[in-house]
Amino acid sequence: MTPLKWWQTAVFYQIYPRSFADGNGDGIGDFKGIIQKLDYLASLGIDALWLSPHFPSPNWDCGYDISDYCNVAPEYGTLDDFKLFLDESHKRNIRVILDLVLNHTSDEHSWFVESKSSRDNPKADWFVWRDTPPNNWQSCFDGDAWTYSPERDQYYYHYFMKQQPDLNWHNPAVKKATWNAARFWLDLGVDGFRLDAIGTIYEDPSLTPHNVPMNLAELRRFSDLAKTPKELKLKDEYWHDMFKNQWGQTGLHELMKELRAILDEYDGDRMLVGEDDNIDYMGSGRDELHLVFNFPLMKTNKLTPDHIRKNQAERLAGLNSLPAEKGWPCNTLGNHDSSRVRTRFGDKLHDAELARLHAALVLTLKGTPFLYNGEEIGMADYMLTDISQVRDTMGSWYYHAIVTDMGVHPEEAMARTAEMTRDKNRTPMQWSNNPNAGFSPAHVTTWLPVNPNYKDGMNIHDQEQNPSSLLNYYKHLLRVRKSSSALMEGDFVPLHDSAEDYFAFIRQSEKQSVLVVLNFSQSQLELDFSQEEAENIFKLKILFSSAERQGRESPPKFRVSPFEVFIAEIGSFN
Ligand code: GLC
Repeated sequence: MTPLKWWQTAVFYQIYPRSFADGNGDGIGDFKGIIQKLDYLASLGIDALWLSPHFPSPNWDCGYDISDYCNVAPEYGTLDDFKLFLDESHKRNIRVILDLVLNHTSDEHSWFVESKSSRDNPKADWFVWRDTPPNNWQSCFDGDAWTYSPERDQYYYHYFMKQQPDLNWHNPAVKKATWNAARFWLDLGVDGFRLDAIGTIYEDPSLTPHNVPMNLAELRRFSDLAKTPKELKLKDEYWHDMFKNQWGQTGLHELMKELRAILDEYDGDRMLVGEDDNIDYMGSGRDELHLVFNFPLMKTNKLTPDHIRKNQAERLAGLNSLPAEKGWPCNTLGNHDSSRVRTRFGDKLHDAELARLHAALVLTLKGTPFLYNGEEIGMADYMLTDISQVRDTMGSWYYHAIVTDMGVHPEEAMARTAEMTRDKNRTPMQWSNNPNAGFSPAHVTTWLPVNPNYKDGMNIHDQEQNPSSLLNYYKHLLRVRKSSSALMEGDFVPLHDSAEDYFAFIRQSEKQSVLVVLNFSQSQLELDFSQEEAENIFKLKILFSSAERQGRESPPKFRVSPFEVFIAEIGSFN
């Protein structure tokens, strides 16, 4: 077997820079803060960081509206601070990938400022311009997708907010400038990129209108109120139909190949992970993206063994059938766009147990795991209560749309906004039980409120002191993973296909076979592996058990405790 690349065995950890650590006491995270926490990250046991955008930005979309691709946002520090961060990470054997936003810039980027200044400037064709809105397309964040610019007396297209104009990727000059920006960071030594919203780069060239009988605000409201199976089905169809002409269009494979070729010019196995679940963007398995996320795993309200099994069967079949080389899986349960793992997949009764189970799931499935900062201490969603606190402008846009245009009562509108805005899962990291959770000094107003549950043990300092905390559980699991060739690189063999309460599988490398059992139920279960002779399950050496059992088990029959995570090496031991 060819040795795996670093990005196949690594555990990635996403840092959301605004909320990670405030090193200069202004209420906003920064590089100084991140550097101070690198020892913490090394002790956690992760291998690579994905840094959400750190570039200058007017922050209409929290950094995903970039006004300069080759610099650092002043509130996060300077380019030298970035270089120090990269260097210090590498010294600790932690790789760093950046967020590359290709679909759009900020409307304050000099490229757009020039493009909108006249119809015949050198960058006139760098964005997507039309004399009149050619169709009824919507932006997925704030209403009409075509916004009027008085300077040109024309309309520009934006898939996201109006402050995020779409680049015209049919223009070779756009490619050249953006690839140069990618090279700028590769030359500095970054290990790769997470490619933002790649599916949205091209649009249907015939500009076919959508046929949904409502606009974005109405569709969001319709979705909020949908209850019956018919309404829920219609809601999904409408969301798909409204945007189907604005993403996943032809041209992307060629583009991904170009970018991959650039990365391949560099040493050190630089890598690309696409914010998309489409395995096709891995091309032949060798010539486009190294990884795409397994989003279908997390696109459910409840993680059940049945859902996970079907998901794995489908994903692995897709990855194994790439023409040149098998694709590698990439699993995640949360990021800065989604409700936090603890909240979303909890049941309000066993949230603590389920958080442990879900961590074990993502760390034992075949593939590269991505964790989101704060997940390791069980940070939960935090619901804002006042519209003035909202920083995610897609949330405030929706609030105003339903209050002003639809007459929804502000209280109801706020409750709905708090749920749909991504602010709830972007609150500052909870470092200690000091004021402001130790994120910023006391009395500083942080950019988003700190979740007050930091006072109840939901913070890193307290959990470091407590041997049975979630944080120490993550550390332990990460160590077990790292010391097991089966968990790092082994194949996935599902067992007991129809079990409803538990998910059992084997990971098998050349050197080692490991049995994993995740009990998703609150009952003790009697398991019988006597049918698994082919897998040789006659002696098990326990590598990890959340029920704190130790030593050996002698199957074929044994019991697992409620919500137990059981990981054991299979073999013949003396
Ligand atoms: C991606 C990002 C999201 C952002 C959007 C527009 O989906 O993850 O946070 O708002 O792209 O850039």
